[in-house]
Amino acid sequence: MKVACLNNISSVGLNEFTKKYDLIEEVDKSNLILVRSFNMHQMDVPKHLIAVARAGAGVNNIPTEEYAKQGIVVFNTPGANANAVKELVLTAMLIASRDVVGGVNWVKQNATDPEISKTVEKAKSAFGGNEILGKTIGLIGLGQVGSKVANACIALGLKVIGYDPYLSEELRSGLDERVAITQELEVIYKNSDFITLHVPLLDSTKGMINSEVFSKCKKGLILLNFSRDALVHDDDLEKAIEEGIVRKYVTDFPNPKVASMNGVIAIPHLGASTEESEDNCAVMASHELMNYAEQGIIKYSVNYPAIDPGKKETKTRIVVLHHAEELMNEFMNLFFNKPVMNIITKAKGDVAVTIFDIDDDVPTDCIQKLKEIKGVYKVRKI
Ligand code: MLT
Repeated sequence: MKVACLNNISSVGLNEFTKKYDLIEEVDKSNLILVRSFNMHQMDVPKHLIAVARAGAGVNNIPTEEYAKQGIVVFNTPGANANAVKELVLTAMLIASRDVVGGVNWVKQNATDPEISKTVEKAKSAFGGNEILGKTIGLIGLGQVGSKVANACIALGLKVIGYDPYLSEELRSGLDERVAITQELEVIYKNSDFITLHVPLLDSTKGMINSEVFSKCKKGLILLNFSRDALVHDDDLEKAIEEGIVRKYVTDFPNPKVASMNGVIAIPHLGASTEESEDNCAVMASHELMNYAEQGIIKYSVNYPAIDPGKKETKTRIVVLHHAEELMNEFMNLFFNKPVMNIITKAKGDVAVTIFDIDDDVPTDCIQKLKEIKGVYKVRKI
C-alpha cells in the first residue's frame, strides 16, 4: 500500500507504518492519505485511494460526503489533540482577562529605555485586568475538548455551564459533577462571562454566533473560538465589540476581517500545535489507516459506520462499501457456492459496509461482478 501525506505529519506517527507500506511523494498514486489542514475540496481524487485520515478533529477541509459515494473512508482522531487545545483555551481565557499581550508589546517597544525598570511601574496601569476565579464560563459543545475545558475550569474556581445535545455517556460520566448541564443555549448566553465554542463547522453551525445571540449576552463577554472561524458572524462580532457586548474575542482562526479588528486576539491556529498532540494524532491516524487497509476495521470514521469484523482468519475477506439499501441477496448470489463463514454489515445514514469472510479464494470475475452491482461504491479483497 502506498501512503502520501498532504501536510507535515509527525515522524513518530509515520514510523508506525510497517514494511507493507511505502511512503510516497506522488499523491495521485496513493492508496492512503494522511492530512492535517490541506484543503482537499479542489483536489483530484487519486484513482486507487481507499482511505484518508485527518490527523486532528475538524474535517471541513475534506469532502467527506463525496468521498463516501466514491467508497473512500475518512477518519479523524477525536481526543488525540484535545489536551493541547484545552491548554490553549485556558491560555486564551487568561490573556483575554489580563492584558498580557499589550504589556509584553509595551516592553518590547521600550526595550532600549535605560530607565525601563522604573517606567514600567507607571506604564503598567494600562495593562491591568480581571481574575477568572468565580466567573462563569459557558461551553457550547462538551466533546473531547469541551469536556476537558469544563473540568479544568472547575479546578480553576470558575462556575461552568455546558450545553451539548449530543453529549456521549462516556464524556458525561467523566464530567465534574459541578458542571451544570443546560438544555437551553439562552442559559449560556444570559449568564456567561466567557463563552467557548467546541462544535464542528457544519451548515447548521455556520454563523451561529451572530447579532441575535450577542443581544442575549452579558455585556463585557469574552468569546473564545478554538473550533472554526465561520462559526462566528464577523460583521455582527465587530458591532458587538463596538457596543461593548464583547470585550475580547480570542480566535485560533485569523481571517482578513478579524485579524485587524479591535478587541481581537488572533492566534495562528496553534490549538493542536504541540509536539505531544502532533505525535498522538499521527500515531492514531496511521493505525486507523492500517487497521482498515489490512482488516477492513473502521473506527472513528466521519463518513462510514464503525465496523469491527475482528482479525481475518479465513482465506479471503471481502469489504464492500455501498449505498445503504438491501443488496444482500445480490451479494449472496455471487457467493452461492462459496464457504461464507461470517457476514457483518453496518449502515450509517445512506452508506453501509458489508464484510464477508470466505474460506476460499474469490476469483477476479466475481469481484468485478460485485463492483458492477448498482449502489456498490468500492470492493476490496483482503
Ligand atoms: C483540529 O481540528 O483538531 C485542529 O484544527 C487540528 C490541527 O491543528 O491540525
